[in-house]
Amino acid sequence: MKNLGISFLKALPSIIAALGMSSLFLNQWAYASDIGAELYEQHCAACHGIRGQGGTGVPLALDDFQREVTDQFLFNTIKHGRPGRVMPSYAMLGEEQISAIVKHIRGFSNVKAPAFDDTPITGDTKNGKSLFMQHCAACHGEQGQGAAGTGVTFSRPRDYPILAPALNNPGFLTSATDQDIKRTLVGGRKGTPMRSFIEAGLKEKEINDIVSYIRSFENNPLKPVHVDEPLVIEYESDADLTTVIDNIKRAAQGKNFRLIRVQNLDYGFVDEKAESGKEVIIYFCNFKLLNQALKVDSRVGLFLPCRITAYEQDGKVKVIAINPRRLSHLFNNNELDRLCNEMYKTYVEILEEATF
Ligand code: HEC
Ligand code: HEC
Repeated sequence: MKNLGISFLKALPSIIAALGMSSLFLNQWAYASDIGAELYEQHCAACHGIRGQGGTGVPLALDDFQREVTDQFLFNTIKHGRPGRVMPSYAMLGEEQISAIVKHIRGFSNVKAPAFDDTPITGDTKNGKSLFMQHCAACHGEQGQGAAGTGVTFSRPRDYPILAPALNNPGFLTSATDQDIKRTLVGGRKGTPMRSFIEAGLKEKEINDIVSYIRSFENNPLKPVHVDEPLVIEYESDADLTTVIDNIKRAAQGKNFRLIRVQNLDYGFVDEKAESGKEVIIYFCNFKLLNQALKVDSRVGLFLPCRITAYEQDGKVKVIAINPRRLSHLFNNNELDRLCNEMYKTYVEILEEATF
């Protein structure tokens, strides 16, 4: 007992050292994977699911996906995003952080990642186009623009369909090598609507033709969305506030909008009798348009129903509305851009009519 005690005491410093070392080592290991997990949770989980099971974004945990995508493809996809297709760019994160996210995604599956291979594939682009129309366009769109919507619906908020990504997207084309695209066509992605086209009966040469057709999308880049839009649309009138408010109501109803309510800006902040009545918000809605917009992107709830604010300033009445084109840009969704463009025009027409 005594001896044991002494040798234990003698050994104590090295035991402590060993423990310290290993805990240091453990800490560092935990640090790297924690960072990846943390960043993933913060930036990706809301769309791709906490375990990569998918949601608004495609699943990242499926074995076929993990078997087909290289670390470089993941890295570049995170870096460049998919402009106009909801998937944001994370170029603001450093290389180390993006790599930590890639590592975390690799942890979703035990499947080994393929090696990076950028050997170009040449094929008959014309034949590729006709095969594409026959086998791919129904899901990926005739111009490779991808399926419509974000996969989020209100009736089935937790049961997301897996939507076909855009293949004419600059973010995709920059991130995927020809071999990456071919691997996906050959292997398919079990658990999603994307099947193996070798199993579907296509020859390797035909797959090469399709790959070279997809590569040719690079020659028709998407138009960039406008970033320099003003945040608000603003008009001015010499009429009095009551007249302008009546004009706004009439103009909105004339465009098939339903008036929801008219509310003083200070409503709820001061006693009802103390409301100034000099700053008023008019809420209106067209339910058909609202539903269309919600189908495209449920985040429009942030700025719908429509609202116009009217207030007196320096003897004039000013009317303002938030610019839907500017807001839409934040959501990185081309389809939403189109709808918001229409909303923008409607706002301008109502505001012009109300202040004429
Ligand atoms: C039945 C619908 C459907 C058809 C037909 C289809 N795809 Fe897909 N495709 C999908 C879906 C859904 C995904 C997303 C799969 C996932 O979640 O990983 C996908 C994924 C892909 C990807 C990976 C995209 C990315 O973002 O990395 C490529 C490339 C692709 N498909 C090409 C094709 C080509 C080329 C054809 C025709 C030969 C084709 N697909 C036919 C539905 C389809
Ligand atoms: C706002 C939703 C959203 C967020 C946030 C988001 N994604 Fe995506 N992601 C998508 C959508 C949608 C797509 C499919 C693009 C398309 O339809 O063309 C996608 C595509 C991808 C793809 C390509 C999938 C394939 O089949 O090749 C990868 C990889 C990916 N995302 C990883 C990430 C990672 C990692 C993060 C966090 C750093 C992230 N995404 C954040 C929505 C999102």
